[in-house]
This record gives sequence, C-alpha cells and structure tokens, in this order.
Amino acid sequence: MKMKMKMVVGSLLLLLLLSGSTDGRCFCQLTGDLDDCTCDVETIDKFNNEQLFPKLKKLLESDYFRFYKVNLDKPCPFWMTSSHCGLKACAVKPCEPSEVPEGIRSSPHSKYSAEANEQLVECEQAGRLGAVDVSLSDETRRALLNWSKHDDDAERFCVLEDEESPDSQYVDLLLNPERFTGYKGPEAWRIWNSIYEENCFKPLTVKRPLLPDSFHSGPGGEANTFHRWLQGQCVEKRAFYRLISGLHASINIHLSARYLLDDRLFQERWGHNVSEFRLRFDSELTAGEGPKRLRNLYFLYLIELRALAKALPFFQQPSFRLYTGRPEEDQSHKDLLLDILQVARSFPLHFDETSLFTGDEKEAAKLKEDVRLAFFNISRIMDCVECFKCRLWGKLQTQGLGTSLKILFSERQIEALPSSSDQRPRFQLSRQEIVSLLNAFGRISTSIRELQTFRSLLAEER
Ligand SMILES: *[C@@H]1O[C@H](CO)[C@@H](O)[C@H](O)[C@H]1NC(C)=O
Ligand SMILES: *[C@@H]1O[C@H](CO)[C@@H](O)[C@H](O)[C@H]1NC(C)=O
Ligand SMILES: *[C@@H]1O[C@H](CO)[C@@H](O)[C@H](O)[C@H]1NC(C)=O
Repeated sequence: MKMKMKMVVGSLLLLLLLSGSTDGRCFCQLTGDLDDCTCDVETIDKFNNEQLFPKLKKLLESDYFRFYKVNLDKPCPFWMTSSHCGLKACAVKPCEPSEVPEGIRSSPHSKYSAEANEQLVECEQAGRLGAVDVSLSDETRRALLNWSKHDDDAERFCVLEDEESPDSQYVDLLLNPERFTGYKGPEAWRIWNSIYEENCFKPLTVKRPLLPDSFHSGPGGEANTFHRWLQGQCVEKRAFYRLISGLHASINIHLSARYLLDDRLFQERWGHNVSEFRLRFDSELTAGEGPKRLRNLYFLYLIELRALAKALPFFQQPSFRLYTGRPEEDQSHKDLLLDILQVARSFPLHFDETSLFTGDEKEAAKLKEDVRLAFFNISRIMDCVECFKCRLWGKLQTQGLGTSLKILFSERQIEALPSSSDQRPRFQLSRQEIVSLLNAFGRISTSIRELQTFRSLLAEER
C-alpha cells in the first residue's frame, strides 16, 4: 500500500517537474476539448475547490488575517524608479503632465497627440486603480496596537526588518483586493524580467521564450533551447524557476478574473475577461507556454500545501493564539485554522520535499543558501514595483512563499517543538509570517478555483 502511494506521488512529481515533455495535454479541459487523459490535476482541483477553498476563504476574512503590516515606502534598491505613474502621490490625484514619465514626454509625438493623451489616461487609471486604501477606523487602529503588544511578548525567531520600520503600516487586505490595476507596459515587464533573468540562475545566453521582442522573430527554437536548459538544471533550481513562474501565473489569473470591464467612475464593473485569460494561457496564442505556466501554478500549490501540512504542530501548541483580544473568536478561528491544516495534511498526493537539498552535503548547503539569497533578492525587487497595490500583493506573496520554504526546511525543528511552554521553542513564526503564509496560499487556492470558472466560460464560448 505504502509502496503504491509512493509511486503515485512519484509520478505526480514527475508530471509536475518534467515540464518539457509533450504538452498541453493535461490542460485539455482548458479549451473544452474532451480528451482521454486522466490527470492528477483533477484531483487537486476537486480537493481544493470542494474541501479547502471554502474554509480558507472564511478564515481569511477574519480580523487576524485581514490586517497585514507592510512597508510600502521602501526605495527600490536596484534602479531608479523613474515613472511617477502609480506612485503614491499620483495615486490619489491624477498624474500631472509633468509627472508623465520622461520616456513618454520626450517621445517624438507632441504631448497633445492622441497617443500621449491616451498614455496620460492610462497613467491616471493605473494611479487610481493601483492606489492602496490604508483607511482603518480608529477603533481598529487601537486594537491593532494592542495586538502588536501581544506579539512583542511572544518570543521571536527573528525580526523582519519591514515589520519594525516606522514606515510600516497596517493594510486591510479585504479593502484592497488583488485585481486588475492597469499596471503594465515596460515598468511591469522590467520587474518580471529582472526576476527571471537575474535571479533564477539562468545564463544570459539562454533566452526565455515569449520575450516580447523574440516572439515574432523565432518562436519554436528559443522555447526548445530554454526548456532543454531547464531540464538540465538540478531539481532545486528547476523548482525555483517553477515557483516563480507559478506565482506569475497566479497573479495573471487574478488580473483576468477581476478585470475592470467597465471603468466609468463610480460605476466600475469587475469580472472575468476570457480574452485576457486566453492571451496569457491559451496554448496556441502563447506558443505552448500557457499550459506550462498553469502546471507551474499547480506545482506552487503543492509546495505551499505541503508547508501548511508540515506546520500543523506549530499551530497546535496550546500557547499559540490567533490573538485579537477577543478570546472566544480567537479560539474559534484557531479551530478553523487547525481544521484547514488537517485537511491539508489529508491530501493524498503530497509533494516529497526530501528530494530537495539532498545529495552531497556541502553542495546541498550551498544550493540551499543560493536559493535563499535569490529569494531574498526577489523580495527586495518588490520594492521596485511602482503600482502600490501590486507591490502590496507582491510583497505578501513572496513573503508567504518564503515562509513556506522556511517551514519545509525546518522539519526537524518543528518536530522537536517542546510540549510544555516553559522551554523556548526553536521554531517560531511571527504574526506577519503567519498572515502572509495563509494569505499567499489563499491567492493560489483562489487561482485554482478561478481556473474552473474560466474552463466553463471557455467551454461556453465554443
Ligand atoms: C487594549 O487592551 C487593554 C488591556 O488589555 C483593554 O483594556 C483595552 O480595552 C484594549 N483596547 C482595545 C481597543 O481593544
Ligand atoms: C538581485 O537582483 C538584482 C536586480 O535584478 C540583480 O541585479 C542582482 O544581481 C541580484 N543579486 C543577487 C545576489 O542575486
Ligand atoms: C478584455 O481583455 C482584452 C485583452 O486584453 C481587451 O482587449 C478587452 O478590451 C477586455 N475586455 C473588456 C470588456 O474590458
């Protein structure tokens, strides 16, 4: 029995890791075509959409999880953020012509040309939609102060720099949903590009498929070189790349699922935009890349799910509370959280992370450190995201994924958690890490749920 399970897990892993093989087949459902492939992706869909997602959604609406402390004012450490579009000042009021990016102003077109005007409108829109609503009632503000006193009493594993900064502020995540913001073009592209190009262990000589300027020149060849390169990587580096790609896919699903369909002020209408979805994920429109991106999303899902399952003993500690100062509510939310983690644990096809960072001990340690540094670097790149709402969700999701990795690689410390509260535990998670862990997973879980909606919308279209 156990043996059989191992094999199932093994083949799922294989399916997920070998992204280079013949393709799109697992996502045949996406285009509505019937196909004979039975695929583990369906198991994940069913598990997520029916069992996990409804509970998780409820939990994330609770006060403990809706307030995330974040510093959105850190300067970008890597380059000058030149565009003012989407910056805070310009987010509340529409951009002045003088605030329009240099590149646009100095374009050969006069600033009164139709194109410049269009860009101005786009900039205004991005500013408005990208703004973060930091409003909190006085009562909430006072309560949060109380909570942080409680958090400070708890012994901490390490202090995250952001959390302590005087510039950090609480943001109500429910007031700031992740959705279409109009943030696109060169600035948005630059962020993803520097993540993929400089932080995913990829040599410059290997071109990523579907770079805007390489797509039309020669699609097939570059994609092949790229996927061959990826195949040749050790499992850790490949996994790293796939996690980032999965995150990217998830963000794009959210943009397509909560698209601004009608943008008359005060009459905004948000909803699914199937064309936008197809542009990003349709096999034909993306030269086969779309289905791979979606598979990376499932890979990311499995990694974060695994981390939640592993973290159960930490949250089970009697001394652990989801503190908001209202004992009854705190207890019922803790029960709900434990219930969710038990469900996560019950998932039959868990990812086996012991295959990561094994092998030669010295080499493994170096790899682990490389991955940690690259990850840390990516979280700093988030400070370069000019759209504040995107920055908020980008930071939250990278921190959540970072926390997942921390959990996965702290298995021994978690198992060794003391049963009585007078010993100092060697494994700790801060409130910020807990909030980001669950909310980041909530995003991926929502994406998987949204895929189902897109599948039926696509089927209707035919
Ligand atoms: C903060 O905590 C104190 C003492 O624990 C309590 O008396 C007070 O009502 C709390 N304030 C808020 C806003 O929850
Ligand atoms: C961190 O990211 C920046 C910007 O992409 C890059 O220039 C730099 O080489 C990266 N550093 C490390 C250590 O990966
Ligand atoms: C949906 O997305 C497409 C592609 O980005 C865009 O051209 C179209 O205007 C969008 N539809 C609506 C109703 O906004």
